[in-house]
Formats: sequence, structure tokens, C-alpha cells
Amino acid sequence: MKVPIIKGKNVTLRPLVMSDAKNFCLWLADSEVTIFLQIHGEPSPTLSEEKRYIMSTKKDLSKRQFSIAVAGVHIGTLALSSISEKNKRAEFGIFIGDKKYWGQGCGTEAGKLLLHYAFQTLGLHRVYLSVIGYNIRAIKSYEKIGFRIEGRERQYFFREGHYHDKIIMGILKNEFTFKSKKYGKRK
Ligand SMILES: CC(C)(COP(=O)(O)OP(=O)(O)OC[C@H]1O[C@@H](n2cnc3c(N)ncnc32)[C@H](O)[C@@H]1OP(=O)(O)O)[C@@H](O)C(=O)NCCC(=O)NCCS
Repeated sequence: MKVPIIKGKNVTLRPLVMSDAKNFCLWLADSEVTIFLQIHGEPSPTLSEEKRYIMSTKKDLSKRQFSIAVAGVHIGTLALSSISEKNKRAEFGIFIGDKKYWGQGCGTEAGKLLLHYAFQTLGLHRVYLSVIGYNIRAIKSYEKIGFRIEGRERQYFFREGHYHDKIIMGILKNEFTFKSKKYGKRK
């Protein structure tokens, strides 16, 4: 499925390209990154697996996956998955693999650009996500995007000898406000 290039003030969302595979392999082999992801504890992908994954996302009608770039540098990825035309909803997922870019506002800006695309271009009504309870940075970023905590599944994950809750967050189209210097304020 063809995805567009979406430019924000500091962040650009662009289609995945094969040369992104190398960065994904590096990032998904870094436990300081994966500790925040569902895949933590699984074997990290090989370069050929990652290339196959990139190919498969392009054919997947229920998914729109982008790479996140800042000044031309590939720093991470984000996606709408499980897109349901019938129910007008999709699941949001994001990771910035280049740790230098954590905490600089890139994830929040990228998330807002993706939600604007989800609601205005794809015509979705609801976007939802799940996050492990200790990922405070992600939860803060999601709240800044406009997501609300809707519930939690208690002690869902077992990591490093402890159980952790899974937090469910969601946002509806009429709750999302998009504002950027480039485009001005709009709903
Ligand atoms: C989660 C993620 C996408 C957020 O993007 P980001 O660009 O780092 O986040 P932002 O800078 O936009 O916002 C982070 C907020 O958390 C705060 N924060 C930053 N580091 C923090 C930390 N270590 N602990 C708690 N809060 C932190 C920031 O101050 C900011 O809030 P503020 O603007 O109110 O001050 C990114 O950090 C990331 O990809 N992390 C690793 C993988 C991951 O967690 N993916 C999400 C899985 S659900």
C-alpha cells in the first residue's frame, strides 16, 4: 500500500525503503530500545528478515507504516495497523530507535502527523494503542498527542522478574486538534 510523504516542522514521515532495514536490525538488537516494545525477549531480526518485513508492509492493506526522519536522518518508525474500514479504527505504534532523539519532541510531532493522516485522509474515527506501565515517556508523549487512558490489563507483562500492567489508550476523531506552524490550527 502506497504511503505518502508527510512533512511537519521538524519531522518527516516517509515510506519505508530497503536501506532502512539495517537501522531496524541495529535498533531491535538493543535491549534499551526493546524493553519498551512488545517484542522484548524475542530474537532480534536478521537483515534478510527485516527486508522481507519491509516488503510485506507495503502489500498489507490493513497497515500504513512510515519511517520517521529528522533533517534527512532516519530515526525510527511509526504505523497504523489493523486498520478496520468497517469500524473506522486502527492501532497506533511507534518507536524511535536512535536514542539520541528521545525526549526531544520528535515522537509527539510524528504522532500528531500520523493522527492527522488517520482522521483526515483515511477517514478513521478511533485510534488506539497499548503501552507497558513503566514507559512513562511514551505515556506522556501519547497524552500530549491527545490520547486518553481508557483502561489497563493488570500484570500483563512479566519482565525482569516483575509483572507490569498493559495500559490501553485511545483517541476519537473529534478529540484530536492538529496545530502546526506550517498548516495553522485545524481540526
Ligand atoms: C515513546 C517515544 C516515541 C516518545 O517520543 P519522544 O520524542 O521521545 O517523546 P517527546 O519528547 O515528544 O515527549 C516525551 C515526554 O516525556 C518526558 N520524558 C522524557 N524522558 C523521560 C523519562 N526518561 N521519563 C519520564 N518522562 C520523560 C518529556 O519531558 C516529554 O514530556 P514534556 O514535554 O511534558 O516534558 C520515544 O521515546 C521512543 O520511541 N522510545 C523508545 C520506544 C518506545 O517506548 N516506543 C513506544 C512503545 S509503546
